[in-house]
Amino acid sequence: ADLSNGTVSSGLNQQVQDQLAQAPTQYTELVDWVREVAELTEPESIVWVDGTEEEYDRLAGELVEAGTFRRLSDHEFPNSYVAFSDPDDVARVEERTFICSETEEAAGPTNNWRDPAEMKSLMKDLYRGCMHGRTMYVIPFVMGSLDASTPRFGVEITDSAYVVCSMRIMATIGSDVLKKMSDTNAFYVKALHSIGAPLEEGQQDVPWPCNPEKYIVHFPEERAIWSFGSGYGGNALLGKKCYALRIASAMGHDQGWMAEHMLILKVTNPENKTKFISAAFPSACGKTNFALMDPTLEGWKTEMVGDDISWINFDENGTPRVVNPEAGMFGVAPGTGWSTNPNAMRAIAKGNNIFTNVALTDDNSVWWEGKTDEVPDHLIDWQGNDWTPESGRPAAHPNSRFCTPLNQVDMLAEEFYEPEGVPLSAIIFGGRRKTTIPLVSEAESWSEGVFRGVTLSSETTAAAKGAVGVVRRDPMAMLPFIGYNASDYFRHWLDLGEKHGEENMPKVYYVNWFRRTPEGGFAWPGFGENSRVVKWVFDRLEGTAGGEHTLMGTVPTREDLDLTGLKIEDNELDAALAVNVDEIEAELIGIDEWLEKFGDDLPQRIHEQRDALAQRIEEA
Ligand code: PEP
Ligand code: NA
Ligand code: MN
Repeated sequence: ADLSNGTVSSGLNQQVQDQLAQAPTQYTELVDWVREVAELTEPESIVWVDGTEEEYDRLAGELVEAGTFRRLSDHEFPNSYVAFSDPDDVARVEERTFICSETEEAAGPTNNWRDPAEMKSLMKDLYRGCMHGRTMYVIPFVMGSLDASTPRFGVEITDSAYVVCSMRIMATIGSDVLKKMSDTNAFYVKALHSIGAPLEEGQQDVPWPCNPEKYIVHFPEERAIWSFGSGYGGNALLGKKCYALRIASAMGHDQGWMAEHMLILKVTNPENKTKFISAAFPSACGKTNFALMDPTLEGWKTEMVGDDISWINFDENGTPRVVNPEAGMFGVAPGTGWSTNPNAMRAIAKGNNIFTNVALTDDNSVWWEGKTDEVPDHLIDWQGNDWTPESGRPAAHPNSRFCTPLNQVDMLAEEFYEPEGVPLSAIIFGGRRKTTIPLVSEAESWSEGVFRGVTLSSETTAAAKGAVGVVRRDPMAMLPFIGYNASDYFRHWLDLGEKHGEENMPKVYYVNWFRRTPEGGFAWPGFGENSRVVKWVFDRLEGTAGGEHTLMGTVPTREDLDLTGLKIEDNELDAALAVNVDEIEAELIGIDEWLEKFGDDLPQRIHEQRDALAQRIEEA
């Protein structure tokens, strides 16, 4: 990194100089970087984060003191805290997110791009002195297992204790990581974060300091992250979206692996046979619920390996192996409840949570829309105002979050702890579509599966700003997370199939839990009943389930699905499974519009898949 401005620094106080001299590592390259950042940002002091519980408790106590955290009553969520953010710092800021590759072309048409040198110069001006009056924390972390053959290290420098506490839940951090990194002089991703709120002499702090000017910036060639101005999750916990998706996708492209926005399920059939499946869904499609599903089908078991991110490597036999690089969940609270997601609730009920922007109850616990069927009579909403059911506004912010350690999930598969991951049998793409997309279908080949991913779509919901019910394309559910040119990303997927061979690649499925009947109701009950779809997928992989060839690949007939004990009307099931030529013909128009965005860069193999679909429509 080239953070220094060429002048001899004079900004470091004696305390910081001592803390640099007493760094708990001999890794001089790392200490040099920390010094460079300190010279630029001029913190009051430096803390080398050790990752211990004592440290967490101390920092949480300081956050309570500062008004950032409120300690909750232990009766419902032991050892848990709630934070209320600045109302303008509640979500990822995609319009302020940049991929600063050497060339604009390398960032592609789906990312914001700025020249890296220009961006660095602009951001250095913002970073200069930005940690005045604050502690600079140095967090050594590893994504995935420290025992992996290639541990994926990072170091986040941040001036936010909220970030330190959250990172301790979301990743493996601290002294052991630093030791292994230092002993092996390992490569690590440099992840620099500041809330951008210097505290000058005598200045009063606020509970959630941040800066109205925000930058979430990635330098993919350098594997570096520079984040400024926000304290919120995806903008500030840099191991997650910034590293494990954007930077890791670029690393995977160069190194022959994949970093994907996918949950991971372990499925066990009644004969005790197991398979692992990853699944990508755009937001607001019930991804967390699917990851934590309770099957309704007798004898079938699902366990969670991951709820958000899949890293897929290929072993020496070409077998794809998937790991969840994270150690915690940073889940959307609203809609997570005892009736819809009891497994998530049981994990949260064990305590050790950091909640953000949920509502506060009169007995010093927290509540959010959908947590319980019964709505409390009185709350303090996420903005600190009195709230009653008559208030006519949500009590919790729609993007309020729970941050919870994964090892508290009862249904966490033991294979979560496998350093090199588990064999991946299938990839499921899902979206929210009222029409067109059947309940489940199987792509005929890897290339067709990639085409399905490239054209993945979902209808917008009230969860995000803007019009509701509009079909948006979200390739592989990675639109905001592809750290380089999307056409190259599609090509990488196709190339991996050619390299490792069809027989090694996961089979690709497409699901839609949200199809409507002509009368407008949901055609499929969803939730635990989705286990019937999982069973069909499992049995297809085993070669024991039937299906019908359609325009959309192989789709089960009603006889091919296990509907034992399911209450569903004939017209509902028909609607769920229907493949209508007219709808798919209309879909092709939307697909063509989408593919145009990529111009001549789009791989020819994607054009071929598109033409094959057009041909099938013509013949139908
Ligand atoms: C986030 O916003 O920090 C985040 C985890 O994003 P998402 O829930 O959209 O995956
Ligand atoms: Na941890
Ligand atoms: Mn996500």
